[in-house]
This record gives sequence, C-alpha cells and structure tokens, in this order.
Amino acid sequence: MDKPKFTDEISSTFREFILLPRRTGPQQSLQQVDLGTRLTHDLRLNIPFMSAAMEAVSGDRLGIALAQHGGMAVIPAGNVSPQDQLDMVKAVKRFKAGFVEHVITVSDDMPIQKVIDLERQHGYSTFPVVDKNSKLVGLLTEKKYNPWKDSELLVRERMLPLETLVVGRHGMTLSDANRQIFESGIGVLPVVDEEGKLRSVVFFSDIRRSHQYPDGVVDSQKRLRVAGAISTHPEDEERARNLVAEGVDVLVVDASDGFSEYMSSTLQRLRKLGVPIIAGNVVDQDGFDYLVENGAEAIKVGIGSGSICTTRRVKAIGRGQATAVHQVALARDRHFKKTGRYVPVISDGGIESSGDMSVALALGADVLMMGKYFAGFEESPTATFMKRLPVLFSGQMAEVEVTVKPYWGEASPRAKNVRRYQQDDPRSFVIEGEEGYLLYKGSLHKGLPRELMAIRGTLSSCGCSTLSEFYENVQVERQTLEAVREGGTSIFRV
Ligand code: IMP
Repeated sequence: MDKPKFTDEISSTFREFILLPRRTGPQQSLQQVDLGTRLTHDLRLNIPFMSAAMEAVSGDRLGIALAQHGGMAVIPAGNVSPQDQLDMVKAVKRFKAGFVEHVITVSDDMPIQKVIDLERQHGYSTFPVVDKNSKLVGLLTEKKYNPWKDSELLVRERMLPLETLVVGRHGMTLSDANRQIFESGIGVLPVVDEEGKLRSVVFFSDIRRSHQYPDGVVDSQKRLRVAGAISTHPEDEERARNLVAEGVDVLVVDASDGFSEYMSSTLQRLRKLGVPIIAGNVVDQDGFDYLVENGAEAIKVGIGSGSICTTRRVKAIGRGQATAVHQVALARDRHFKKTGRYVPVISDGGIESSGDMSVALALGADVLMMGKYFAGFEESPTATFMKRLPVLFSGQMAEVEVTVKPYWGEASPRAKNVRRYQQDDPRSFVIEGEEGYLLYKGSLHKGLPRELMAIRGTLSSCGCSTLSEFYENVQVERQTLEAVREGGTSIFRV
C-alpha cells in the first residue's frame, strides 16, 4: 500500500463550520457584492449555481429560468433518451425571451366548457385557436365569453377571428413584437410562419419580465447557456456529438465515482468535440489530478453527500462534503500556481440551506451543484400534487394538506426500474438512492433571489465584495454540536 491506512483528515460537512465576520465598508454593501464565478478557465457564470443532471430537476424550463439568473442547468442523460435530451437543450438554446413556443391551443369546434376546464387546470386565460394543420384561425381570451352562460357554445362563436387579429411573423425581433403587441390592443401577439402555422405567442406580461434579467448567461450569439450530461458508455459519444451540434455549451461526464479508467477513455474521446468538459465525481487531490490530466476543465466533487443518496450506507465510500471540497480546492490552487490554468471546483450535493452554500464557497467551491434545492421549484420538470401530512398541533395530531413535488435519485429503485425496462444490465447497477417528495416552493424567479441575497449578506458581513476575495480571506471555524444547536432557534413556534 502506497499510503497510510488512516488519512490525517476528519470527514466533515458544511454544518460543522461557521464563518467569522469582518469589518464591512460601503464597498461591501449588498448591492455591490458580485457573485460572478468561473465554470471553466474561460467560461464565467454570473451566479455560482448549477442544477443537477437529474430527471426530476433539470429540464428546459428550469434551464431557461436558471440561465436567465446567471447560472446553468445540466440537462440529464441517465433515463432521458438522446432525443428528449436534445430537445431540451434545443429549447434552451433557441429560447427567445418573450416568444412562448409551447402554448396550449384549442380548435374552433371545441365547446367553451372544455376551454374553461383547461383554464382551471393550467391557469392560462388566452388560447390560440388552430385548425388540424396547426394554422392559426383565431384567438379566445377569457374576456370574450361568460363562463356561466356560454359554456355550451363553441369556441368559434366567441373567438376573435384571424382577420381581426394583429399577427407577428416568425423570425421577428422582440422589439418588433413589442411594437406590434401595442397595436393589437389585447396584450397578446400570435406569431405565425409563412404557411400561417402558429409558431409562438408573445404575451405583454412576458415582454415586461424579459427586461428583468440583466444577469443572464448567454453565448456569443446571445443564446442562453446550458450544459448536457453524458455517461461513460461509449455509445453516448453520438449523444454528445448531437448536443454539440445543437450548441450545448458544456458537456458534463456524469459518474457517481469518476476516478476510473472508463472516465479517462471517455474524456479522451470527447475532448475532440471542442466544448469544455466537466468530469466527476471525485473527493480528493488524486482524483482531481487524474481528471485534469485527462483534459477535464472543471471538476465535480462529492460522493455520498446528496439528499437522496445512500452511497455511504450501501458502499461505505465517499467523504464529508466540506472536507472533500476543501481538499480538492487546494489541489486546484496548486495546479493554478504551477500551470496558470484555473480548473474550477463544483461542489455537488448536500446543500440544505443558504448557510451551507456560503460555507461551501468559503471552503473553495467555485460553483454549487444542487438537486434538492431546484427540484421543488415550479420550473423543475415534475408535476405538483397534494399530500396530507400529519402535524402535531397544540399537543394533538392533525393533518394538513400541502403541495409537493416528487424527487428521486438517479440510482434509486425508481430510476433503476426504468433502466431495467430499457434493457440495461441490472447487474451493473447498485441501488444508491431513494425517492420521495419535497414541499413545492413556487417559482424559481421568486425563490432564487432570496438565497442569492443571503449569500451576498454573508460576503458583506465578512468584508468581501467578490467570491474569490471571500475564499482568500474568510476565516472558517469548526464548531461543536452544542454551538450548532445554539445557532438553531429555541422558542415555541406558533
Ligand atoms: P442534493 O442537492 O443534495 O439533492 O444532491 C444532488 C446530487 O446527488 C446530484 O447532483 C448527484 O451528484 C447526486 N445523486 C443523484 N442521484 C443520486 C442517487 O441516486 N444516489 C446517490 N447520489 C445521487
């Protein structure tokens, strides 16, 4: 054995550390703090957030929303077919602020009662009316019918017919759309192609919102940025090629234990494709060096820390996430000093609060990859459902009904069942994950700014205005379990 049996470290996690405040000046006010970071040596994010390559987390809607705020989603491979993954990457890359492509349409011979049902189900109040060839024939808005009197009428009896509508042409710019939408007087602009087929709809409310994301991460053609996951299976090379052809910005080679020769040969193969490659997961300096030698441009760190992860129980491998991040960050710093190449560290899994986010950044993470945090948002790809939960109220058990979203690991029995169905060899798959549900958190657009503000608050209190200054200067102290308890609250909550 080339190394002693016991290492000198103690596997620790974020909650075991606390950050010491320093003098704050006007340059460190919340508005001045810059959360920009590096995802690779040459590629920057405006916030240090990535969403996990998981089926329950990262779809096109989340990809769009997160990139608008300055982060990046990793569209998963796993159980997602190459075509579905490609479609999601396309949807992010082709997203044009304000042009909504997947709108629910109705036909002119549909009873209005059905439209009322759709409205209740989806919350939309405007429906383009199309014929069986997807050609636009009219528009129905809720102002045009009386739900108590008109439910038996047909859509064509209440819709605004095509000849009375202002219609945009596919390919138009947002400023053209902005102008025309005022002419329409109804705050909605259907956009059709040369054959008259409906391609998208512009809503006035979205145009207003599209000006609200100055931090969006975009490529040289102003398209939002997105990453795509790839497994180490050789057949995924074609998947990777197609993603690159569609403009994917980064490939993430996804393996729960990335310190392997499969990973090395995958990196060798994918390097030729000309996009940066992120690899992982590893937890120590040797793992970092191995992946960097093989051409990875950012390293994902974390084994066994995920909220749905049972790897440590099942296989007893991994490392406390705080220790893993800090050790790999030291390897990154050494590598940078030696070569001048900065290979960022992505802390993957185990984040439970904004406090954890700040500790991970203080210990050297450049980017935080999160699954649980994003899965509860409206924009994640799963549907919400209602669940009755028991609660203790004034000493008595009661039940409350809450809105939840499902969340499951990529190595959970649920994921495994699908894979078996897809003829994957079940012998090559260890169950290392669980499935369950999370409280629904509403829209990312409302939720995410709260965590960003909390991190800004930490940097500000620690006298720092950038993340690199924060990592270099912040003092970190280990805390006892009693201190952790003291940091919690101890009153009866109403
Ligand atoms: P979370 O943010 O704590 O929920 O962790 C998300 C991370 O857990 C992902 O980015 C993966 O690295 C990891 N992960 C996803 N699925 C599984 C699984 O089934 N078992 C173990 N780890 C998983």
